[in-house]
Amino acid sequence: MKYLEFYQKSLDNPEVFWKEQAEHIQWYKKPQTILSKDKNEYPLWYADGELNACYLALDKHIEDGYGEQIAIIYDSPVTQTVKKYTYHEVKSEVAKLAGGLLSLGIKKGETAVIYMPMIPQAAFAMLACARIGVTHSVVFGGFAPHELAIRIDDCKPKIILTASSGIEVDRLIAYKPLVDEAIDLASHKPKKVVVFNRKLGARVPFKKYDVDYDALVYGSEEADCISVESTHPLYVLYTSGTTGKPKGIVRDTGGYATALKFSMQNIYGAQPGEVFWAASDVGWVVGHSYIVYGPLINRNTTVLFEGKPIKTPDASTFWRVIAEHQVKVMFTAPTAIRAIKKEDPNGEFIKQYDLSCLRTQFLAGERCDVATLEWYNQHIPVPAIDHWWQTESGWPMIANMMGVEFLPIKPGSAGKAVTGYHIQILGENGQELNANEEGYVAIKLPLPPGTMLDLWNDSERFHSGYLQKFPGYYFSGDGGFKDDEGYIFITGRVDDVINVAGHRLSTAEMEEIVASHPAVAECAVIGVNDDLRGQIPLAMVVVKTGNEIEHFQLEYEIVHLIRDQIGAVACLRNVMVVQRLPKTRSGKILRKLLRSIVDKIDFQIPSTIDDENIIDEIQEVMNAYSLSKQR
Ligand code: COA
Ligand code: AMP
Repeated sequence: MKYLEFYQKSLDNPEVFWKEQAEHIQWYKKPQTILSKDKNEYPLWYADGELNACYLALDKHIEDGYGEQIAIIYDSPVTQTVKKYTYHEVKSEVAKLAGGLLSLGIKKGETAVIYMPMIPQAAFAMLACARIGVTHSVVFGGFAPHELAIRIDDCKPKIILTASSGIEVDRLIAYKPLVDEAIDLASHKPKKVVVFNRKLGARVPFKKYDVDYDALVYGSEEADCISVESTHPLYVLYTSGTTGKPKGIVRDTGGYATALKFSMQNIYGAQPGEVFWAASDVGWVVGHSYIVYGPLINRNTTVLFEGKPIKTPDASTFWRVIAEHQVKVMFTAPTAIRAIKKEDPNGEFIKQYDLSCLRTQFLAGERCDVATLEWYNQHIPVPAIDHWWQTESGWPMIANMMGVEFLPIKPGSAGKAVTGYHIQILGENGQELNANEEGYVAIKLPLPPGTMLDLWNDSERFHSGYLQKFPGYYFSGDGGFKDDEGYIFITGRVDDVINVAGHRLSTAEMEEIVASHPAVAECAVIGVNDDLRGQIPLAMVVVKTGNEIEHFQLEYEIVHLIRDQIGAVACLRNVMVVQRLPKTRSGKILRKLLRSIVDKIDFQIPSTIDDENIIDEIQEVMNAYSLSKQR
C-alpha cells in the first residue's frame, strides 16, 4: 500500500488500523477493547489486553527457534571490546537478574532507577524490570547527583541499579560515588543499590545498601515473565520541561510494543534478523525505543555502542562499526554527523570502509540542517532521512516511512506525518493555518498507540502542558509549517526548552541554578546557535549592586555550578555580564529578543519593551564578549 492510502486509513478508522497492528505482537490476553478513554477523556489503547514486553523482546524469539541469533552486539571502542550475545544468552542473564531483583523484595507496581553507562547490563536491567512488572526509570549517566536525586524523589525507586563507572573518551567517571551522593541528597531512600563492577579501577565505595550485580545474577533462579495489563507503566523517563522540575513521561506496555513493532518495519524498514544501530544512549528515549525494545521486539540484532562519533578513537568509528557488524539501518543525531564532518571534511575515513551493507541512515533529535544532509549524501549514497519525534511520543511522528513508500526527500523537512498522527499547524487561537504558514505543531486526538500515558505523579501538569492550549489536540511545544505537498518543516521549540547536541535541556532549570549564585541579581539563560551542537546555552547575568566579583571568576563559578547541579552535558560555558535585561513593561524578560541579538538575526523591537536603550547596551557587551571564541 502507498503512503497516502495507508495514512488515510489510519486516520479514518484508527481502531481498525491499530487492531490489525496489534495482531503482529503476541498477547497473553488479546485486547477486545481497542480504543477507550481514561477518566480524563485521554485515549487508552488496548485497555483489557495483557502481555509482557520482555517476553516479546526475548522469550518469543527463542520459542520461535531464533535463540542462537545475535540479539546484542556490544561495541565499546573506549574499552576496546566487542562482545556478542545471543537471544538465549540475553534471556538467561535477564531472567536471572529478574529473579535476583525479586529476591530483594521488589515487585510489580514498584519502581527501579537505572543509572548506568552504555553497557549491556543497562539493557539487561531494563528488560529484567519489564519481566517482573517493575517500572524502570533510566537516568542518563551524564546527569549530576542533584538531577538523579530529583528523579529518585519523584519516582521513589525501591532499588537502584548502577555500575562502577562510565568512560568519557579517555576519562573514567566513577558512578557509585555519584549514586551515593544522590541518595544522600534525596528524601526518598531506596532499599538496595545493585552495583555492576566493571573492574576498570574506579573507586566503588561500599554502603550497607549495596548488592553486587554478579553475585545477584549468578546466585539467582531464572524468573518467568509475568502478564501485565496493556496500560501497565513499562517505564518513566524524565525529560526537560519549561520549569526547573523535569517531567516523568509514563509509557504504557501494550500500545508501546505495538507501535515499536510497527515502526521498526514501516518507518525504519528493518526486517527481523537484520542489524540495526541507534547510536544514542539508553538514558534517552531513542535508547529505550530503538536500542532496546524496538529492535529486540522486531528480532533485530541491536548494536549497543559505548563511544562517541569522534575521539573514540577518531572520526572513523561510525564507519568501522557499520562495516564490521553489517549494519543495515542506522540512526544518529545530526550533531554527530557535524562532529565527524568537522574532523574529516573530505570523508577520507569513509573511503576506508565498505559501507555497502547500509541501506538507510535516519537522523533525529534536532533539526537536520541542509549542509549536514548534503555532506552526508555527498559521501554516502544511501537515503539520509530526517524524522521528528519526542520523548513524549516514544516513536516517530513525522518521517519518510521507508517500509511503506520512499517519498522524495525535501532538505530541511522531517517528511510527512506518520500513520496515526493527524498533525496540524495551528495559529494562536487554535485555527488551522494555511500551507506554508508557520504556527504551533499540534496533533489531533486520539494520538496513536505508544505515546505518553501521563506524567508520573502529575496528571495536572500533563493536562495543562499538553492538552489545554488547544482543546482536542496534543500540543508538541514545537513550531513549524506544512508545505502544500504535506511536508512538515519543524522550526524549533516555542518554549524555553533547548536542544544541545541532541540533548534536551531546560533553560528555566539553568536559570534557577544561575540565580542561586550569591552575586547574581537576576539572569536569563537562552539557547543560541552553535555550529557543532545546534544550540548551546548562554547565561546573561546582572550582578548585585556593590558586588565586586571579577567577570572571569563569576563565569568560572557559574559554569561549575551548572556542571555540579545538572552535569557537564548541559555545556553552559558562556556567562555574559550585562547592566540590565530587556523586559516588557509588565516585567517579563524578552528572551526571544536576546536570542535574536546574540544570533544576529533581524528583529523587530517589541512594542511592549520597557526601555529600548537596553538593546544597544546588550549589543555592546556582546561585541566585547566575543562569544564565538568561547564556544
Ligand atoms: N557521563 C558523563 N559525562 C558525560 C556523559 C556521560 N554519559 N555524556 C557527556 N558527558 C560530558 C562530556 O564528557 C563533556 O564534558 P566536558 O565538558 O568536561 O568535556 C560534556 O558532557 C559534553 O558532552 P558532549 O556533548 O558529548 O561533548 P563532546 O565534546 O564529548 O562530544 C559530540 C560532542 C557532538 C560528539 C557529542 O555531543 C555527540 O556525540 N552528540 C550526539 C549525541 C546524540 O547522539 N544524541 C542523540 C540523542 S537522540
Ligand atoms: P527529545 O524529547 O529529547 O527527543 O526532544 C524532542 C525535541 O527535539 C522535539 O520537541 C524537537 O524540538 C527536537 N527534535 C527532535 N527531532 C527533531 C527533528 N528531526 N527536527 C527538528 N527538531 C527535532
